[in-house]
Amino acid sequence: DYREMAPAAASRNMFLDAEGDVDRVKARHSVHSSGVPGTVAGMIYALENYGTMSLKQVIKPAIELARKGFPVSRSLASSLVRYSDYLGSDPASSNYFYRADGEFYQAGEMLVQKDLAATLKRISKNGRDGFYTGKTADLLIAQMRRNAGIISYEDLLNYRVVERQPVCGDYRSNRVCAMPPPSSGGVHLIQMLNILEGWDLYALGHNSAAYLHRLVESMRRAYADRSLHLGDPDFYAVPAKQLMDKRYAAELREQIDLAEASRSKDIKPMPARLITESPETTHYATWDRWGNVVSNTYTINFSYGSGISVAGAGFLLNNEMDDFSSKPGSANGYGLIGGEANAIQPGKRPLSSMTPTIVFDPQGEPIVATGSPGGSTIITVVLQMLLNVIDFDMGIAEATAAPRIHHQWLPDTLRYERGISVDTLNILTEMGHSLGDKPVRLGVTQSIASDKNKIKYAASDPRREGAAAIPE
Ligand code: DON
Repeated sequence: DYREMAPAAASRNMFLDAEGDVDRVKARHSVHSSGVPGTVAGMIYALENYGTMSLKQVIKPAIELARKGFPVSRSLASSLVRYSDYLGSDPASSNYFYRADGEFYQAGEMLVQKDLAATLKRISKNGRDGFYTGKTADLLIAQMRRNAGIISYEDLLNYRVVERQPVCGDYRSNRVCAMPPPSSGGVHLIQMLNILEGWDLYALGHNSAAYLHRLVESMRRAYADRSLHLGDPDFYAVPAKQLMDKRYAAELREQIDLAEASRSKDIKPMPARLITESPETTHYATWDRWGNVVSNTYTINFSYGSGISVAGAGFLLNNEMDDFSSKPGSANGYGLIGGEANAIQPGKRPLSSMTPTIVFDPQGEPIVATGSPGGSTIITVVLQMLLNVIDFDMGIAEATAAPRIHHQWLPDTLRYERGISVDTLNILTEMGHSLGDKPVRLGVTQSIASDKNKIKYAASDPRREGAAAIPE
């Protein structure tokens, strides 16, 4: 777990204005929106404890790409145009992401990142200290001080990587393992699979109205529970076992009317009395010839994080603090609401939806590694990937390409991709579901699967360019 941590000076109401409303700019697009970064510590921890190469070896290609530059892709070029208000309002970001003459980069032009190369060199030379102390730390703290930010030298030194057990559940004859709290991904993925396990989904037909209705009703209930029960397990007793209990899933399944949509306002999170337990976002997957599998989702929250770069150090600051619930009942950047479990506290980690997942067959052999970006939609995107493979017997490429849907309890809206048939959408509307007004894109998965003969297949989601499936 290399999730960001709230700085020591963070406080529950830090994003509320004088009227007690959430100041969205402060929560999402200011130096206050950044949690203490964990990436560098996390990657180094994984390498030192589980890797076979040296830090110098693994960072070298990144240093070269930053120093010599890389050709700007068509989608990066258009994304930088789209985000020019966001990035352009920060002097360092506009210096890093726009040409010196103020023009936009065209596809094919080289994007050189000299400051980033220097930062990466310091990390390559000094390891964790190359980021959390010394010059990089000085630059980061200077960036904070220029804007009255609160991340301190002590916060950087105090950042801790935590090794956690993944959450696992059985779905049909497979074992599904994914990220535990402080992500909500694994818990709710397993919860939704448990609900859905009670039906023969294959017989209903992929993306039929009957199938999508069951998906939506399962999603609605899982995200209601998320709003109350999920947060950093070091600060809040997350009832993960109860939420992933097959009996609780059976109760939820019983409540689902198969003919009619329920209303989100009638759905409540699991009552706290059921809790008996004592207190106790880029994806990639790799698979080596020895069967070691890594499924990693990585995020600085929004595209380009807070939009603010550390001047002189060449990297963007995250805005993960917006993944906290700044005010009970008030939606974050993904429309998610939360309460006490995910309130801001010093040193706490903001709740995530990341769902890096590995599925094991009954013999314990890995068969699928998958995951996705997409904020609140990550969990339901991964859910549909697993259903496509396990219930609908799709190959990993077909599972990736198939159109998806999403529901997150609140707002009470069924989002859908182009490709879900209009006939089906009409039936769902008749059943009482409130559909979004136009199709949206849901998720960008990167997956590897292995078949019965241990032949591996990789699939990079065609929804976004710039990723690839590469054989070993
Ligand atoms: O951890 C989370 O749930 C979010 N920070 C993920 C953000 C994300 O996936 C953005 N990607 N489109």
